[in-house]
Amino acid sequence: MAQKLAFRPFRAIQYRILRRSQFRRTFLFVLKAGSPLVRSLLASLTLLAVAMAAPVVAAQKVALFIDVSKPGPKIDRNLFGQFAEHLGHGVYEGIWVGPDSKIPNTRGIRNDVVAALKAIKVPNVRWPGGCFADEYHWRKGIGPQRTVTLNPNWGGVIEPNTFGTNEFMDFLDQIDAEAYLSVNVGSGTPQEAAEWLEYLTTAQPTTLAKGRAAGGHPDPYKVAFLGIGNESWDCGGNMTPDYYLSQLKIYSRFVRNFNPAQQDKQQMLKIAVGPGGSESRWTEWTDAIMKAYQNHTWSWDMNGLSMHSYTVVKWPPSFASVGFGETEYAQILRSTLEMNSLVEKHSAIMDKYDPEKKVALVVDEWGGWYAPLPGSNPGFLAQQNSLRDAVLAALNLNIFARHADRVRMANIAQMINVLQAMILTDKEKMVLTPTYYVYKMYVPFQDATFVPATFDAGTFTHDGITLPRIDAIAAKDKAGKLWLAITNVDPNQSAEIEVTLAGMNAKSAAGETLSASKVDSVNTFGAPNTVVPKPFSAKAQDGKLTLKLEPKSVTAIALEQ
Ligand code: AHR
Repeated sequence: MAQKLAFRPFRAIQYRILRRSQFRRTFLFVLKAGSPLVRSLLASLTLLAVAMAAPVVAAQKVALFIDVSKPGPKIDRNLFGQFAEHLGHGVYEGIWVGPDSKIPNTRGIRNDVVAALKAIKVPNVRWPGGCFADEYHWRKGIGPQRTVTLNPNWGGVIEPNTFGTNEFMDFLDQIDAEAYLSVNVGSGTPQEAAEWLEYLTTAQPTTLAKGRAAGGHPDPYKVAFLGIGNESWDCGGNMTPDYYLSQLKIYSRFVRNFNPAQQDKQQMLKIAVGPGGSESRWTEWTDAIMKAYQNHTWSWDMNGLSMHSYTVVKWPPSFASVGFGETEYAQILRSTLEMNSLVEKHSAIMDKYDPEKKVALVVDEWGGWYAPLPGSNPGFLAQQNSLRDAVLAALNLNIFARHADRVRMANIAQMINVLQAMILTDKEKMVLTPTYYVYKMYVPFQDATFVPATFDAGTFTHDGITLPRIDAIAAKDKAGKLWLAITNVDPNQSAEIEVTLAGMNAKSAAGETLSASKVDSVNTFGAPNTVVPKPFSAKAQDGKLTLKLEPKSVTAIALEQ
């Protein structure tokens, strides 16, 4: 039903375009047949008619002011983190093809995927889940003989455990990212988790360390982040806040990182399970964990509180990931913008117990979650990725950046072939998604300093849904260069942004812009370049720098003064 409604206005637009081109063809035919005078008269009439037939979509003018004199917090590079769960083709086929595969690989890990991920400077990868993590037993994934098990959460398929701890750490090494391990609280034990960390991090010749050396890695690994459980209020064991707190304290105390390089500096950050929504059960959860944190003793600690929030509109996920119209575009974007109030709601609770903002809010699962692709295993969460997802990604990254004092890490779900992915693969083929390109365009914002940008966003209304038309963030990178990322949410009207900087003139701008002809434009294996960034530049005229943004576009530019 939703799809039918979506296609109706779309067909009407196509029909109008057809009528217009027929009109043009008729006039051009008469031109050929007539005298020069008639020809020029008809030519003028043709131009007039074409102009009259063209839709009147005046660019919206927006004044944007950037105050470089008031730098804000650092936009932590970990906001651009990824999530790779043993789910569908996220790990197997997406990352791991095995050393004997014909697909070019390095020790079993796809070279094409590694190169693509390096280009977006992935800061960290959360692994092995998700719900999978609370049933993962790490010992089954090490050594020459792997235990073959099941993946009951995600399609009940075979889990060969060929991609285990060492393969994950090798993958991170190849893409130059940090490890964010999720330990099994639901069906594991503190001892199992503690031994995993000993295996990974000790420099002493313990039996576990010798096992690691035998597996090819004598040096301790660095584990930057430790997630203690996953959604423990639901798939992670349906725990009450009190029960979870009792587990959190035990795991936090005993699951130690022994890496000598991580004792004083670069200490492993421990992330507790946090909320999964805005309802009272979630605010009570955040309240309980943060209250306990406020009163914590020397024997346990936490550095982050996780939050999960998918853009789904309603469960089960039913929105199509491709083949939709502007109504679904507006519905999904309205829903995704709720991330702002969710962040603010939980940040306010955290402020009550942690005014110094020592504990980070870690949005370690977020993104668009749509209906499974027709014909795919529903447990594999396979979906396409459209221009709408690029806009969705930019809006969320902007929300995180605006709350960078508290939100210091986020992990989009999920990196490859699952949900809102960066990359899709099919055997030897690989395609980069519109979301991937947003991450690429936002690389300069990693670890940059937030700079306030003020503007009147205006509104865009479709089918009774009103959204802000424009969104923007600005930041100064480490080299002092000023960057601006602007999203024009409006699918039909371009925007003219007049940029003013406090105390200085912006003379020019250069970067990239991402747009496409339709809100549901996608990249496919056959047509991988439908939604790819184009160069963008602008020069000031009469002291004014005006940026002309395409409808439904994301633009990231450096400003030159
Ligand atoms: O990302 C898919 C699943 O969504 C994760 O496994 C779980 O944590 C969440 O419910």
